Amino acid sequence: MLLYFSLVFLTFTSKVLSFNSYKSLPEDAKLFFTELSFKYGHPAKEYRVVTEDGYILQLFRWPGKSKIPVLLMHGLFSTADSWILRGNTSLPVALVNAGYDVWIGNIRGNKYSRRHSNLNPNKRKFWNFSFHELAVYDLSAIIDTVLDKTGAKKINAMGHSQGNSIFYVLSSTRPEYNEKVNLLIALSPVCYFNNAQPPVNNVLEFIPIFGRITKGFVAEIFGPGLIRVLLENICPIPDLGYFICAENILFPLAGFNKAELGPDFVPVLTTHFPSSSSLKNLLHLAQVYDRKIFAAYDYGPRNVLVYNSTEPPEYDLNKVTMPVVLIAAKNDRLSTLKDVELLRRKLPNVVGELVMEPDKFNHIDYLWGEHTNVYLHPFILSVLEKYS
Ligand SMILES: *[C@@H]1O[C@H](CO)[C@@H](O)[C@H](O)[C@H]1NC(C)=O
Ligand SMILES: *[C@@H]1O[C@H](CO)[C@@H](O)[C@H](O)[C@H]1NC(C)=O
Ligand SMILES: *[C@@H]1O[C@H](CO)[C@@H](O)[C@H](O)[C@H]1NC(C)=O
Repeated sequence: MLLYFSLVFLTFTSKVLSFNSYKSLPEDAKLFFTELSFKYGHPAKEYRVVTEDGYILQLFRWPGKSKIPVLLMHGLFSTADSWILRGNTSLPVALVNAGYDVWIGNIRGNKYSRRHSNLNPNKRKFWNFSFHELAVYDLSAIIDTVLDKTGAKKINAMGHSQGNSIFYVLSSTRPEYNEKVNLLIALSPVCYFNNAQPPVNNVLEFIPIFGRITKGFVAEIFGPGLIRVLLENICPIPDLGYFICAENILFPLAGFNKAELGPDFVPVLTTHFPSSSSLKNLLHLAQVYDRKIFAAYDYGPRNVLVYNSTEPPEYDLNKVTMPVVLIAAKNDRLSTLKDVELLRRKLPNVVGELVMEPDKFNHIDYLWGEHTNVYLHPFILSVLEKYS
């Protein structure tokens, strides 16, 4: 009962707060992808991608002249927005200015892709997916759409975090997709969590507990609702918001680096991130951590029914034959150098590696660091040029 009243109270106060604080937010906090694109001088084209299993995804394009299109895939709880939140110093701006035809994907469940031909996102069934489906259905359909619309034979790709794990899952499950990727640049490669340190490992250990407690009434994480309203209202509060949201939530998980993510950026960030995904996706990640095996979703006793085997099948990284460039960072707590090393040893075709400088570069600086245009973009442009 007490919990119920606290929830009602919180919802009420946050509604009042949201009404008051919206006006004071910086402009970029209020803009959607196409509006941000327009503002920064590169109007976006929009495409609809329908997956084999009926999800409807929004795909954006900043057209350019390059023969090989470049596809950017965001990570967990993210959207196409995360690539352009730094405005004129964002990666897609650098790419399109260098002449590349830039495509920016959205996976099922995020705010641009909460649609399905017959499932309703307010129902549990819509959220019955993990990164396996994001790879096997969404990423494959997105790649095919880019190839179809451009007439190109291959794409160059970049994924951040889970946005590159899905390439490994897709190309090991459906190896024909290796032929469609000229090069994958993996920003903050994520595959294993064997070397996760606190609090990342604690979070990964808590996920299955959360799953058991909430079984039956939580399927979507960070959907429109209380948590989002709280984040959108607490994080922009001067000083206190930075202390809570950056110093006590983001940095412990991603790596501390105040120099690259200051207080002014937080209101822009937290209105766009996190976006929604499924609890099942988190559970799958927690299984990879717990089992120390990069394998399909573990359904327990139901594995026999789903896979005709008591154990879920492992993703065979030997089949990931596309050329991969791995870019990692010492201060990245979600993708530790040791875990990237485990991945590197299993991938058969790693053609380049970079450990980011400065040493404090963290998991989220790839997207949101204030000087990432200086630290990272020249390397990306040189690699793309070499492989185009
Ligand atoms: C971004 O760059 C474009 C093109 O150079 C320019 O027209 C625009 O004013 C810049 N926008 C901002 C917000 O700096
Ligand atoms: C979720 O998907 C799995 C595998 O695709 C299937 O076996 C299961 O029955 C589905 N569960 C629900 C609740 O739809
Ligand atoms: C299930 O696995 C068994 C043993 O590996 C095999 O003999 C059988 O053909 C499989 N059944 C199906 C439907 O794949």
